[in-house]
Amino acid sequence: MTTTVARIFETMEWGPAPEASGPALDWIRARTGTFGLFIGGKWVAPAAGETFETINPATRAVLARIAQAGAPDVDAAVRAAREVLPAWSALPGHVRARHLYALARAVQKHSRLLAVLESLDNGKSIRETRDLDIPLVARHFYHHAGWAQLRDVEFPGYGPIGVVGQIIPWNFPLLMLAWKIAPALAAGNTVVLKPAEFTSLTALCFADIAKDAGLPPGVLNVITGDGRTGALLVEHAGVDKIAFTGSTEVGRVIRKATAGTGKKLTLELGGKSPFIVFEDADLDSVVEGVVDAIWFNQGQVCCAGSRMLVQEGIAERLIAKLRTRMEKLRVGSPLDKAVDMGAIVAPVQLERIRGLVETGVAEGATMWQPSWACPTDGYFYPPTLFTGVAPAATIAQVEIFGPVLVSMTFRTPAEAVALANNTPYGLAASVWTENINLALDVAPKIKAGVVWINSTNLFDAASGFGGYRESGFGREGGREGMYEYLKLEVSGAGGQVSGTPVPAPVPADTRHPTPGTLPPIDRTPKLYIGGKQVRPDQGYSRQIRSGDGRIIGEVGEGNRKDIRDAVEAAHAAAEWGRGAGHLRAQILYYIAENLATRTGEFTARIAALTGGTGDDARREVEAAIARLFTYAAWADKYDGAVHQVPIRGVTLAMNEPIGVIGIAAPAAAPLLGFVSLVAPAVAVGNTVVAIPSSPYPLAATDFYSVLETSDLPGGVINIVTGETDALAGILAEHLDVDAVWYAGGAAGAKAVEAASAGNMKRTWVPGARDWLDPRVGEGREFLRHATQVKNIWIPYGE
Ligand code: NAI
Repeated sequence: MTTTVARIFETMEWGPAPEASGPALDWIRARTGTFGLFIGGKWVAPAAGETFETINPATRAVLARIAQAGAPDVDAAVRAAREVLPAWSALPGHVRARHLYALARAVQKHSRLLAVLESLDNGKSIRETRDLDIPLVARHFYHHAGWAQLRDVEFPGYGPIGVVGQIIPWNFPLLMLAWKIAPALAAGNTVVLKPAEFTSLTALCFADIAKDAGLPPGVLNVITGDGRTGALLVEHAGVDKIAFTGSTEVGRVIRKATAGTGKKLTLELGGKSPFIVFEDADLDSVVEGVVDAIWFNQGQVCCAGSRMLVQEGIAERLIAKLRTRMEKLRVGSPLDKAVDMGAIVAPVQLERIRGLVETGVAEGATMWQPSWACPTDGYFYPPTLFTGVAPAATIAQVEIFGPVLVSMTFRTPAEAVALANNTPYGLAASVWTENINLALDVAPKIKAGVVWINSTNLFDAASGFGGYRESGFGREGGREGMYEYLKLEVSGAGGQVSGTPVPAPVPADTRHPTPGTLPPIDRTPKLYIGGKQVRPDQGYSRQIRSGDGRIIGEVGEGNRKDIRDAVEAAHAAAEWGRGAGHLRAQILYYIAENLATRTGEFTARIAALTGGTGDDARREVEAAIARLFTYAAWADKYDGAVHQVPIRGVTLAMNEPIGVIGIAAPAAAPLLGFVSLVAPAVAVGNTVVAIPSSPYPLAATDFYSVLETSDLPGGVINIVTGETDALAGILAEHLDVDAVWYAGGAAGAKAVEAASAGNMKRTWVPGARDWLDPRVGEGREFLRHATQVKNIWIPYGE
């Protein structure tokens, strides 16, 4: 029968949509198909010459040969990590931040190669590797570039632990690599990482990428091999910490092996996470939730919602809906973009799943699978549902780590909680109900490190992940995840922070003319409003003179109309504050990157403007780049808090942007002063109307050409040049401006504060300060002024 659009609408059939495997296979072939170990920045063959095959579980084809690292190799890797440790850990946070940022960018640049390799090696669908694994990997490196930048201020008195041995599983190969190495490197540790033997390829590809991205040799070493290699790493005396993700069984072995050695240990182990459905839940959402909970990644997820607990009254209806949905799931080639589930990682895992399903049937539970059959050319297993499962049954207690859902019923919330907690695990849980009071009553009673309400399998670098009870200890992600890679270093007097780089103070008045470096008088910068360069409303310009009195440029003389236009543009850009902090971070990093490429030009400009030395000007530009990094780091970390209040409930304290902030930048440090005030304001979601320093505005007007190339949405930063006090006064009077920061003289400050009473806008006068000194030039003080706290009270209980 011919295919017509009308027929497709009728049958809803899907054609194949295969992703090409060619580039990934070429990448393997270019390395002759046999991989060495990545030690000290070089590829080396294993000392004993032992290798093993890695296969594509969807086709059984051999993809490559992988090295089995033995004792001399593990020793070499640990030595390489040890050797570079002093240099790496002594780097300023900003430098490590640049390295992590480079890794994030590199992952994004090679995202499709990594996604395809991961699908080939693991069997998981390209839909997941492309849309979930790899973006989360990049996100993790970005987030931790931020923690590297902030380590000294946010973890004062703490330093790295040393050489970290990291052992990861096969279910999220590259994501687990990112979860492990990003915080370790951000904190200043060096790493020896062992991927799982079934899925080494993306870790090896990452090593290649990291090398090209300029990560210093020895900071990251990747040694491949099976559990024997893992055990050698655990036992090596030169390792200061072991971080492990995998089975509870191996976790136990590692706990015993490290006991009494002084090695710090974190374990992220298995789970048997409950998925609790109350009778008032939205069942259509629940069905999709189940798909994500247990059929995501073929169920090979440590926090998979593998035990569905359903309130009795809706069980029959939900099971029927679920079966209908299961009939529509598609299992097949992982590289087919229209496939829901790919292959199981290896024959041993497939056998384990089959064995446990047989046990379930033998113990009397009812097993159901869809009517269609799985492909037979690889290691596939269909989505499977068990009903009538007794709470003590093997399949209700043991982690199956496959696409197998077991379901049970309950009558009351108390019974649901009892069943939920009825395993030795405690990794995650999800709770489904339209009654938020019930959800928040149940959530604290479940023994789990993560509880998702009306959702499941959500991960983010900013939010710690880890287990209770036999699911392990320690957290990955967020501030708590950083602490796992830090140790307290009490140094000398008063427990001062060691190693905080404080730039030398700028000599007060070292004004050397720098003949020959002055740019020609060839342009009149415009105002920058709504993302566009615009001429000032009235046709006046002001002359700008160099340090030695020569005219080096002219800027527009802004007036009330220009300020009004800028405020309007700033309001129109309010979406900026509603978007994700991650996006704001990326744009701030991008601005820093683009400023960095123009360091020479800005240095010359500042030296010419202020008459300072080239060295001073360069230091100012470098500091402005570092400051942009600081606020890129903060953009997704200036979290709120959860308060304890005298009700049965919680109060969520959220830091919200203030709105439109008018900023009069200081005359000192024409670029750095401007960046120091504008960056924190926009990092947390405000939009800004900024008045550059009156005597030296050209550094800021040059800066708008950096903004123009950095994906900053129009209207987020608007720049109006002119006479500072006059323009600040107009901003202070404007009823649609929510705050004014004024870094000028005493008289101007008084005028701004008086005028602000019109709409009771917030004002802040930062006062004269050394903008080069990060202790006073950046940080929480600025972020506090840029935000206001909203408290949301959520009562719970029935
Ligand atoms: P596993 O725990 O044996 O392997 C995880 C990692 O540990 C691999 O890199 C492996 O080479 C390494 N390893 C094995 N023995 C070791 C030892 N004695 N010392 C140090 N490292 C060692 O997990 P496996 O065998 O791949 O899977 C078995 C079961 O474990 C699965 O069916 C599943 O139930 C559970 N599992 C849980 C994971 C999780 O994310 N929580 C991930 C993978 C498996």
